[in-house]
Amino acid sequence: MKTLLVTGGAGFIGANFIHYWLKKYPDDQLIALDALTYAGNMENLAPVQDNPHFTFVHGNIGDQLLVESLLEKHKVTTLVHFAAESHVDRSISGPDEFIETNIIGTYSLLKAAKQVWIDTPASKGEKPISHRFHHVSTDEVYGTLSATDLAFTEQTAYAPNSPYSASKAASDHLVRAYHHTYGLSVTTSNCSNNYGPYHFPEKLIPLVIINILHNKALPIYGDGMQIRDWLYVEDHAYGIDLVINKGLVGETYNIGGNNEWANINIVKAVRQLIEKAFIDDQALAKKYPDAQAAIAQNTESLITYVTDRPGHDRRYAIDATKTRDELGYEPRESFETGIAKTVHWYLNNEVWWQAVMNGSYRDWVEKQYVSN
Ligand code: NAD
Ligand code: TYD
Repeated sequence: MKTLLVTGGAGFIGANFIHYWLKKYPDDQLIALDALTYAGNMENLAPVQDNPHFTFVHGNIGDQLLVESLLEKHKVTTLVHFAAESHVDRSISGPDEFIETNIIGTYSLLKAAKQVWIDTPASKGEKPISHRFHHVSTDEVYGTLSATDLAFTEQTAYAPNSPYSASKAASDHLVRAYHHTYGLSVTTSNCSNNYGPYHFPEKLIPLVIINILHNKALPIYGDGMQIRDWLYVEDHAYGIDLVINKGLVGETYNIGGNNEWANINIVKAVRQLIEKAFIDDQALAKKYPDAQAAIAQNTESLITYVTDRPGHDRRYAIDATKTRDELGYEPRESFETGIAKTVHWYLNNEVWWQAVMNGSYRDWVEKQYVSN
């Protein structure tokens, strides 16, 4: 039985990870630490809120004393670090929080982990407590690829291009340094773009679904030919599980979906699934009366090309051979089934996304549309 501290557990991937983990390891104890920024949402954790194996703590990863007390009090031996500012566009309009949370926050967590797992036992003449610090990172740290470049491996040199990816790269380096210098038992995973339930609707896929249901424009940055590798979020949780349980300390592992799509084509796939859902289920037209283009089967008319994102990376692609060969990792969800599940999750969970849309998020979106 393990006790895990999951930072950022109320966010998109953190919450999905918690659901995955408690289903697979029901005897483990999970503590989620989350500052509940605009992206954190207690509704993401509603399915586990009454589970006696789950505890939620509202707090900041930058609060070193709080983290130390949680590690000590709950005898935590595994820390899984998701907490971050995660949206590239926000990092362009306001990088400060990215530096604060992703770099300084990660540094603070590393100090807390070192203190509790290594320094305190040493001060009593004891051996370090057996532990694992798993850091969740992104493929964006590797920079951008042309259409013909080989996919990113764990050996690819870091070349981050946005304040978001630069802040994640900095945190990856700090995690590495804490292993090499102080002997902290760390692993890092660099994953491609996730999609699935509880995805915050500022990101491409949920934004497209919800805009179609409101009959709003689907903003395509630049020419829409930028390429991302998409992975169903539960498969990311599965990959992290394998890294924590089978990965070697000090190593980094790429996790990807082998599933590259140009943005305009992923938008097309989502549009077609929604149009089909409206044909298959007549009740949807009543439920979403604003969705005129979906009802009329012409969602293509909503596509609107807008000014490109500054410094927009052209292509990301992950070579996950190491993770496959050393840990036996293969994504389990096909893109076809994963994206269909995702579209249906949003069609069936209007209460969840309406609540998100009515929060402070709306002001931010309106500001973006004005500047476009
Ligand atoms: P998210 O923005 O949905 O969630 C981030 C969570 O962290 C939120 O619940 C937020 O409240 C919390 N948080 C932010 N600052 C905090 C702080 N200072 N202290 C405590 N909690 C704080 O992000 P996500 O998409 O779930 O991403 C999670 C992690 O996975 C991030 O580290 C991100 O870089 C990484 N990642 C994301 C993707 C992706 O496609 N979304 C892909 C690869 C890696
Ligand atoms: P996003 O979901 O923000 O993820 P990331 O920037 O981390 O890859 O964006 C995915 C891709 O979609 C990216 O190339 C930017 C593009 N995009 C649009 O074209 N329009 C949009 O409204 C958004 C949010 C993203």
